Amino acid sequence: MRKKIIITGGTGRFGQLLRKIKTKYIVFFPTKKELDILNSNKIEKYFNKKKPNFVIHLAGLSRPMNIHNTNINKSIDLNIIGTANITKACSRKKIKLIYLSTNYVYQGTKGNYKETDPVKPINSYAWSKLGGEASVQLYKNSLILRTCMTEKPFVHKKAFVDAKTSFLYQDEVAKILFKLINKKGIINVGGKSQYIFDFAKKDNKKVKKIYLKKMKNFPKDSSINSSKLKSLIKIK
Ligand SMILES: NC(=O)c1ccc[n+]([C@@H]2O[C@H](COP(=O)([O-])OP(=O)(O)OC[C@H]3O[C@@H](n4cnc5c(N)ncnc54)[C@H](OP(=O)(O)O)[C@@H]3O)[C@@H](O)[C@H]2O)c1
Repeated sequence: MRKKIIITGGTGRFGQLLRKIKTKYIVFFPTKKELDILNSNKIEKYFNKKKPNFVIHLAGLSRPMNIHNTNINKSIDLNIIGTANITKACSRKKIKLIYLSTNYVYQGTKGNYKETDPVKPINSYAWSKLGGEASVQLYKNSLILRTCMTEKPFVHKKAFVDAKTSFLYQDEVAKILFKLINKKGIINVGGKSQYIFDFAKKDNKKVKKIYLKKMKNFPKDSSINSSKLKSLIKIK
């Protein structure tokens, strides 16, 4: 029998890309109305109806980044409490949970972060995602993907010439996600380490240079070590 996956936040930017991927699984993309992560009864009802083997949890709050400073209630509700609600429902029904976290949970000073390195978020968004990770960590039938990805084409007008990271485009992550869902624990998901400007200019010749001194709370080197990922599946 084909296994079933529920994807929360499937109407978001990354969820839209996942819809295009051909997979052997039966995949459901509930809207916020069908599955509100802040409403435990609705979560339970939807899970009872679909009887999934996996939940890929994407729903939450990301942009604009400053909203995690100006509206902390929303950030706490969606990224921490919403993720805890999903984790509790998965644990009650023994459903495998996959949570999309971020490389920004690492401190972002030395780069090349491994899954075993300590975490120390550099901004409020990353704290809210780490808050989500905390509940997922309590449930052992789970996988946390610390993802370093961005939209294609590069969306920003300016890119840092003096800050490094290890971006993959969202469509590249979409292609590998279903291959990882049987794994457990934490996996970094990123590409090679490079200056953000060098990454951006490859497909956006008009991108302008910007320097770290112009921005507060931006990590100098948030690149991650993805050798664990590469040992599990083939990526470029
Ligand atoms: N974007 C990146 O490059 C990146 C990098 C690393 C990790 N991530 C993580 O990957 C995930 C997906 O990112 P994204 O860029 O696709 O985010 P996004 O475009 O902001 O999508 C968020 C999704 O969550 C849904 N949502 C909001 N409140 C909800 C609720 N109460 N109940 C159910 N669904 C709700 C939204 O639905 P509505 O549109 O109907 O509000 C939307 O579908 C996020 O968890 C993000 O933190 C993203």
